[in-house]
Amino acid sequence: DIQGSVYEAIGGYETIEKLVEAFYTRVGKHPKLTPIFPDDLTETARKQKMFLTQFFGGPPLFSQERGHPRLRARHLPFEITPSRRNAWIECMTEALEEAQIEEPFYSVILERLSMTATHMINTPETEK
Ligand code: HEM
Repeated sequence: DIQGSVYEAIGGYETIEKLVEAFYTRVGKHPKLTPIFPDDLTETARKQKMFLTQFFGGPPLFSQERGHPRLRARHLPFEITPSRRNAWIECMTEALEEAQIEEPFYSVILERLSMTATHMINTPETEK
């Protein structure tokens, strides 16, 4: 696109780092999410920084190290219910605010992540 990538527009890798740190701080405290995430989120955050860099038009860091993203397949080992999907998006919404990502990028990013998150649902809600 004529104005370059979302990645560049929001401030590049520095902003991705802020966003991902703010996101996993919340994931690590969210009662709906802690059961499926590791206690130490360092490695998870490192992979997510690489992924989101590439997802928003920066260098293909994730694929260089991990190959094709195959995101849905990589999430199949975890029970992702609709309410876990919503919890993920809630953490991401707050992280976008903390990282001070402004419009129109805030909405563009949230929209794209919301669609991807919906695609990750692989388990119906239970009565737990
Ligand atoms: C990995 C949960 C949505 C990108 C993971 C892991 C979990 C998880 C439990 C494994 C963490 C680890 O062992 O280190 C969820 C849940 C979601 C969700 C509950 C709610 C819908 C997303 C979305 C994206 C994403 C929307 C991308 C836009 C990733 C990436 C990894 C990952 C890149 C690392 C994959 C790898 O290289 O192994 N996710 N995820 N996830 N997730 Fe998600």
